[in-house]
This record gives sequence, C-alpha cells and structure tokens, in this order.
Amino acid sequence: MKLWKVLLLWTWSFTTGQEETASCVPLQTCLLPCRLDKGKADLIEWTHTKMFGTVHVLRDGKDELKNQNKAFRGRSALFPEEALKGNLSLQLSQVTLSDEGTYLCRSISYSPEFILNEKRVHLRLEGDEKDFSRFLQ
Ligand SMILES: *[C@@H]1O[C@H](CO)[C@@H](O)[C@H](O)[C@H]1NC(C)=O
Repeated sequence: MKLWKVLLLWTWSFTTGQEETASCVPLQTCLLPCRLDKGKADLIEWTHTKMFGTVHVLRDGKDELKNQNKAFRGRSALFPEEALKGNLSLQLSQVTLSDEGTYLCRSISYSPEFILNEKRVHLRLEGDEKDFSRFLQ
C-alpha cells in the first residue's frame, strides 16, 4: 500500500466537499446516502466518528458484524446489489439522538491496487430540543 496515495485521497475527501447530510425523523428508518465510484469494492465500511467499532461492514458482499458497535445491533443494513452500482447507502432503523453525528462511508479495494474512497455523512434529527426530550430516557 502506498501511503502517499492514502493521504492524498484522505485530503481529497476533505477538500472536495464530499459531504452529505441526512435529516432523520426520530424512531423512523433513515437512509444515510453514500455514492462512491462504481467498481469492485472488497470492503465497504461504515463507522461513526465518535463511537467504537463499526456501524456496518460488507466484505465481499456479505455482512461482517463481528466488530459492530452494540448500539447498532439489528438496526443497520447495507445493500450488496446496490453497492455493485456504487450506491453504498446505509439504512438505519429506530434512529435516536445518540445516532446523531458524523459517519464515514468507506470503500476499499485491495487488488490489483489499493484504492480507498471515503465520504462523510452527517446525521441529524429533525425537530427541536423539545421534541427530542421525550426520547431521552
Ligand atoms: C440506494 O439503495 C437504497 C437501498 O436499496 C435505496 O433505498 C436508494 O433509493 C438507493 N439510492 C439510489 C440513489 O439509487
């Protein structure tokens, strides 16, 4: 793996406005959009920048949830068929205040060369503080 290439892509993802925002309704199912270059991805990985583990991982088109943060257990889905078309969107059900924040959507190919693509997606809940308070137990 060439480190300069990784750094270059990393910098690129911060400078080209590769960011999306998902507005989600509390307790509903929400789609976090992520479109990255079409092409073979060996690994698709979603993480939350402030939470340990992963949100959801697809390795060779199959779910890999061994490192999934418990907070997302049974609430996340990726779509292998869509992923082949470059649609790496994450579906999250029962969204709550603690899901808010910044997510990273990554696609990685290992061969014939290492390619990493990354996008930041911000999740925020619709409504105001007053509406949220009843979900904070
Ligand atoms: C991406 O896939 C999801 C899940 O199947 C779907 O709901 C969404 O409409 C797709 N987005 C695009 C841009 O095709």
